[in-house]
Amino acid sequence: MELLRFSAFWWGTIMFGSILLEQKMASSMTMLKLKRLCKFCDVESTSCTGTGNCMADCSITSICPHPEDVCVSIWRKKDDNVTIDTICHNPAHKLHGLVLEDYNNSKCEMRERNNMGSQFFICSCSEDECNDHLFFTPYSLDSQVVSVILVSLVPLLVLAVLVITSFYWYRIYHQRRAGAKRKKTPLDFSDAHAIMMDDDGSDSSSTHANNLNHNTELLPIELDAQVGKGRFAEVYKAKLKQGATGAGEHFETVAVKIFADEEYASWKNEKDIFSDADLRHENVLHFLTAEDHKVEKQYWLITAYHPRGNLQEYLTRHVISWDDLWVLGGSLARGVAHLHSDHTLCGRYKVPIVHRDIKSSNILVKGDLTCVLCDFGLGLRLDNSLSVDELANSGQVGTARYMAPEVLESRINLENIESFKQTDVYSMALVLWEITSRCNAIGEVKDYEPPFGKVREHPCVESMKDSVLRDRGRPEIPNSWINHPGIQVVCGTIDECWDHDPEARLTAQCVAERFNDMEHPDKLSGRSNSEEKIPQDYASETTMPPAGEADNCKQPSS
Ligand code: ADE
Repeated sequence: MELLRFSAFWWGTIMFGSILLEQKMASSMTMLKLKRLCKFCDVESTSCTGTGNCMADCSITSICPHPEDVCVSIWRKKDDNVTIDTICHNPAHKLHGLVLEDYNNSKCEMRERNNMGSQFFICSCSEDECNDHLFFTPYSLDSQVVSVILVSLVPLLVLAVLVITSFYWYRIYHQRRAGAKRKKTPLDFSDAHAIMMDDDGSDSSSTHANNLNHNTELLPIELDAQVGKGRFAEVYKAKLKQGATGAGEHFETVAVKIFADEEYASWKNEKDIFSDADLRHENVLHFLTAEDHKVEKQYWLITAYHPRGNLQEYLTRHVISWDDLWVLGGSLARGVAHLHSDHTLCGRYKVPIVHRDIKSSNILVKGDLTCVLCDFGLGLRLDNSLSVDELANSGQVGTARYMAPEVLESRINLENIESFKQTDVYSMALVLWEITSRCNAIGEVKDYEPPFGKVREHPCVESMKDSVLRDRGRPEIPNSWINHPGIQVVCGTIDECWDHDPEARLTAQCVAERFNDMEHPDKLSGRSNSEEKIPQDYASETTMPPAGEADNCKQPSS
């Protein structure tokens, strides 16, 4: 036990002694750390240009006051004054607000620092007199700044990539869905097959709608029966093949209007009118595409097909109700108003168009009994590019039976584009009269007859001049028609639309609004207005429509 205690004492003494010795050695080593020798001239002017390498040319070499000190040089240029600062400095402290990061270097590598109020380079190093020979390197962002930028940019970049990828997949998804829908919906014509030709017949990249695909291939169409024949073209019902499915070949029914070689101008005019995307409207025939069939020397227009045929055929075969009249007449007026309008439904500018051949055989009847305007062979775009020649040649066109008095005598005011719209309104009035003549709300309904005579007779311009100009004749509106309050308003409207004075006629937009207001004709009867224009032959007996009630029914002034 004694022996154990003795050896523990000596062991402890030895350990304690060695620890003390270690501490002593360490402190003497610190004491032994050599102080640095550096160039130390403070500020003096220099010939160093701030590029390449140069000598500080400081004649004073100093022993730095503190063992931690390193050598530092600062090069500054303010205006034309270039100076070098050579000093000792403890890198644990900032110098001019800067941390010395390069003090372990053996060479003094000058780096430019920004925002120091002058051009400013600094270097530090840890070898004796190392701040004498200076090596300039151009400005570079220090690594901390670079990492800060990277850290803040990377999430932004990742976000941008994510957004772009999601947008890309979203578009792909929608295109696929739209494609699937298109396959399912009959006559939902896309722009996918459209082919537009320029005057020379070559493919063109026009600004119009329906020509997104400049595909020179013709659509896979199989003609069926002929359904119509006009002055310039024949119309066929046709099958537009839509690709084979498991259940056999799928197709859409379309109408194909075929123009012979000589009728190129008419095809081109109608194609140009149809190609304006702003023409699209539920009461304008839906256009699919135009094709140049070079081999057969034919020009085609492909449109929606409407099995009920044209309005004249429909009225010949059917007596209609007041509701039918309201639907047919209102939709016709909306179609013409859209054509004439200088703005789209969203309020964007659109080129006004005039039809110039409005008649019941140029109007098709859709399944829901709404009308669509068709046959734009004589249509005219009332845009600024309309040449004097085009205007001068636009005098007497259309079908004599439906020509307004000023057209019959070739006295259209060519200086005012509204004049063309007024001639359309006159023709529309005759069609509204035809519709009304077949409505059971007028009382006894006679067989269909067009305005001014029989279907098979085609009155010439001269005989129409006699009726319409000399005799100021209009189709008859018997008093017996206007017992129905709605028919009363329609007849008043017709009368205002076929006025001899073009400027006194209503606009198509106004007629459309009149029809809107007539949805419930029983509510119309109390709305008399003695100030309004009343057709003479039935004014004494009836309450008149609220003509002129809406101010937008006034003609735009010329
Ligand atoms: N007659 C003239 N064009 C027609 C069409 N698109 N549909 C039905 N019949 C027509």
